[in-house]
Amino acid sequence: MSTPAERHRFLCDEIARHAHAYYVLDLPSVSDAEYDALYNELLALEAAHPELVAPTSPSQRVGAAPREGFRKVERATRMYSLDNAYTEDDLREFDRRVREGHGHDELVVYVAEPKIDGASIEVTYEDGVLVLATTRGDGAVGEDVTTNVRTIQAVPLQIPEKRTLTLRGEIFIRPIDLETINERRRADGDPEFANPRNAAAGSLRLLDARLTAERPLRAVFYDLVERYFEHHHAMLAHLAAVGLPTHRREHLCRGVDEVIAFITRFDTERRALPFETDGVVLKVDDLQLRDELGFTARFPRWATAWKYAAETAETVLREITCDVGRTGALTPVAILDPVQLSGTTVSRASLHNLDQIASKDIRVGDTVVLQKAGEIIPQVLRVVPERRPESAVPWQPPTVCPSCGRPVEREEGVAALRCVNARCPGRLEAAVWYFTRRGAMDVDRLGQSLVEQLVREGLVTDLADVFALPGKRDRLLGLERMGDKSVQSLVDAIENAKTSRRFDQLLTALGIPLVGSVAAKLVAERYGDLRGLLDRDPSEVRQELETIDGIGAKMAESVARFLADPDVHAMLEKMLALGVVAKQPMKAARAEGGPLAGLSFCVTGSFEDKREAIWERIEAAGGEVHKSVKKGTTYLLAGEKVGKTKTDDAAKKGAKVIDWSAFLALLG
Ligand code: IVH
Repeated sequence: MSTPAERHRFLCDEIARHAHAYYVLDLPSVSDAEYDALYNELLALEAAHPELVAPTSPSQRVGAAPREGFRKVERATRMYSLDNAYTEDDLREFDRRVREGHGHDELVVYVAEPKIDGASIEVTYEDGVLVLATTRGDGAVGEDVTTNVRTIQAVPLQIPEKRTLTLRGEIFIRPIDLETINERRRADGDPEFANPRNAAAGSLRLLDARLTAERPLRAVFYDLVERYFEHHHAMLAHLAAVGLPTHRREHLCRGVDEVIAFITRFDTERRALPFETDGVVLKVDDLQLRDELGFTARFPRWATAWKYAAETAETVLREITCDVGRTGALTPVAILDPVQLSGTTVSRASLHNLDQIASKDIRVGDTVVLQKAGEIIPQVLRVVPERRPESAVPWQPPTVCPSCGRPVEREEGVAALRCVNARCPGRLEAAVWYFTRRGAMDVDRLGQSLVEQLVREGLVTDLADVFALPGKRDRLLGLERMGDKSVQSLVDAIENAKTSRRFDQLLTALGIPLVGSVAAKLVAERYGDLRGLLDRDPSEVRQELETIDGIGAKMAESVARFLADPDVHAMLEKMLALGVVAKQPMKAARAEGGPLAGLSFCVTGSFEDKREAIWERIEAAGGEVHKSVKKGTTYLLAGEKVGKTKTDDAAKKGAKVIDWSAFLALLG
């Protein structure tokens, strides 16, 4: 038997190892359920032995109470920015200057690495422990965001390196995660982030770090202030070796011709990367040579940033409509003449908020330039003034809700409109969609148009009514495009959702303001199941939640307010009466065991085994089979003869492409 201290050490190491596999290597090593079991054991052990809690324990990533502001930190070595290169000539000119500074005319070795579009950060480790993280600020003085950065799973709290490391890097959000965040913000009535960079920078500087913990931030380090190495590539290899996140995409180029060949090739490759890149950073590999070259007033002379021209398309904006969110927030959307852009047809683009429309002076009838943020989300970059029809007048925000026709309110100081009618059908549709969508209650068959019909026909008047649908087959059969088969699969999906989701997933799906999946887990652990939560008085719930690490006063207040609403309370009771039994997080962890539990696979290409046999194997090991790669698919298992479009597409959707031997390794 190990002592509590030994067990504690073991759990900390295991959790850190799995987090590294998942967030740094993109190669999950356990199922979510197994990870949760380890984490819960750690929490239980620390509750019994508070003396074991250390700043480096994974339990200490949850964030702390909000601060007034950020402490300013003056740094010893200034953070520079990079000069840009847009043409081949710019690159040759950069190389010429480097060689000139070098004094002799031989080929210079450059490291080419992805330029990640996020927020720059400096992180210091002393004696192997993360002690400080600062934003770039003005370069010389940054802001202390240590508490926020500690919530980022990709950033280890401890590393096996005794020397001081002052690292520079980037905090970013994957475009695929930005979609989820914006979905949530739309629903909560918060203005959407226009791109992954804004989302990353905003999340990093939240005064309440518990909210940062809810944001899926990632990190990559690409520079080290201390001079322990002779070459940049060796430094990068060392960072990766001690478990720090690096981009792992560096490429050594001998001379500028190889640089040019690389950036041409990389323009295709970068589209399949899990992070957004807008270019390539070129750095002199030899650190001695870097010292000789030095800096200009603003930039290093030994590095430059190649910027790819963004793909754009022009089309005509026909209409501006407003989507109604769950909380009544109205989001303006541009309806466009369909146009091809980076591989898809675009006919709608979110305009995010009223300010965007005003500042870009976007009018109906305008020809607009579109661009994809993060290669996924189309956005209106600007209008083409020369092509504006004379009749185009500035857009007037609606005064009534497009769904229910009741007057909308404009909030003071916020560029947002809101429908305050609690019974607005548009709001209900958004809430039902949010509740049932994939990753929430996962009722696969409930698309947007079906939800619209269900609300219009009065079949669904609140979220609980979804679970009453299996008893209303006849009425379902009367809806558009609903035959026997589709009704049956909808009924099956709903019956399945009643019993297969965990309590924390149910809580997240309800969309309680400020309560994301991290906080929902903590609430679920405290109350066990829905009955347990409903049996408490809302004011007691508030007090109880406030004592939990990782739940702030505002979150606790929000949960209490939600529960205190008599309509909400009745709706949740109705769910229980209709047979919704959300599982407890811990129990789920054990029941779902199996090496592939929590993972999903799409199988493509040819293998020795039959496709069906592989599917069976996945399911027998607790995994889920997806017939095509979709959002949420963990792996694309690729056999022989798989086209690059397929693997690129999978990577874009966030799936990791693996081969047969990697699959066998996962099976153990
Ligand atoms: S090196 C003195 N490498 O781009 C050189 N920067 O436009 C320091 N960035 O402020 C920067 N990816 O925030 C470097 N692989 C990379 C990068 C990178 C993104 C950002 C960084 C920098 C900005 C300059």
